[in-house]
Amino acid sequence: MKYLFILGRNHELSIAEIEEYLDKIENPIKKLTQVNNGLLVEVENPLLENTITYLGGTISIGEILTSGTEKLIFEKLDKIMIYLGENNKLTYTLWDFSEIGELTKEYLKQRFKEEKLKATFKGLTGKIKNQEGEKDEKPSSKLIEEEYFIFQEEGIEYFGKITEKCDYESIENRDMNKPVRRESLAISPRLAKILINLAKLKTGDKLLDPFCGVGGIMQEALLQNMTALGVDNDGDAIKGAQKNLEWFGFSPESYELIHFDSTKVSISPVTAVATEPDLGNILKKIPTKGMAENTLKDFEKLIVQVINNVKKMVEGRIVFTSPYIRIGKKRLSCNIENICERTGYHEVRESLPEFRENQVVGRMIYVLEKN
Ligand SMILES: C[S@@+](CC[C@H](N)C(=O)[O-])C[C@H]1O[C@@H](n2cnc3c(N)ncnc32)[C@H](O)[C@@H]1O
Repeated sequence: MKYLFILGRNHELSIAEIEEYLDKIENPIKKLTQVNNGLLVEVENPLLENTITYLGGTISIGEILTSGTEKLIFEKLDKIMIYLGENNKLTYTLWDFSEIGELTKEYLKQRFKEEKLKATFKGLTGKIKNQEGEKDEKPSSKLIEEEYFIFQEEGIEYFGKITEKCDYESIENRDMNKPVRRESLAISPRLAKILINLAKLKTGDKLLDPFCGVGGIMQEALLQNMTALGVDNDGDAIKGAQKNLEWFGFSPESYELIHFDSTKVSISPVTAVATEPDLGNILKKIPTKGMAENTLKDFEKLIVQVINNVKKMVEGRIVFTSPYIRIGKKRLSCNIENICERTGYHEVRESLPEFRENQVVGRMIYVLEKN
């Protein structure tokens, strides 16, 4: 079974999340092929319905309608229904991850004409700058009804259609409307979902967020029918988290909030940790190397103390973000070997950077397991 995933702006992070998500739901990946922001994923079993809602780093998911060599693909397309809608009017676009994009576009135009459809092609003229600083294409308008794609992998062309789209707007709106928001400290729902997947947390599992703030990561875990334990040493943050989680309507038995210092708190057993600790002072100006190193040292000390304090109660992974500080053209991150050595954990995949070009403090994401 092959599917197309359209990746978000941080391709590496989006792919890592897809790998961990599929692994945790026991749908083994047989093959991955990436072309720009398109990822063709071969899995053993069909994807679950609404897979998109579990992923923070994927823009949309598509199903293959037919496949064949460059010579055969149009003959094969002749044999299938392409447009299944009821209107005789549609707007459509084509994601092109092949060398026959123009031919496919022409084919669709001709085909819709023959079928007497009033079909309007809209190009992928919207651009987003990805983490590598290159530009990814995206649909220019939300009014596009049908998104087709053509993807080439080892001489075979795969033609298909986007079937699930991430409704970013409603996710962000939902997040904006919650009663307590702390703009500068809050994590986005998308990144929260990514951390949850990297931690391999599943429905029914229990999340620990030892730096829970107003509950951004807890909220995403609870929405996926997990339970959650949040700790924060700031009483106002805990009150904010309580208000937010009540506003979402989660049952009080599904979560617990503790106002305490995570380096000393005692907790009940949890499945895994996904968290965003303080990333140091929110620096607007580029700091000196010395300042950056001090922030990172403080961070290391705090995370080591917290891990050592909670690890007996944590069954699985510990996933956390850490400061990734720009000094000049370079960025500095914390000393993960040192953190691992002092806690008895190891990295299970390479650290994942997440930042915007002009951001002084970005994030480096670490995924750890017990030795
Ligand atoms: C970046 S914020 C977390 C934001 C959170 N993910 C959210 O979406 O709201 C970090 C939080 O860690 C808390 N914190 C810092 N040191 C702590 C400690 N030693 N124990 C517990 N909480 C701590 C701060 O009060 C702050 O609320």
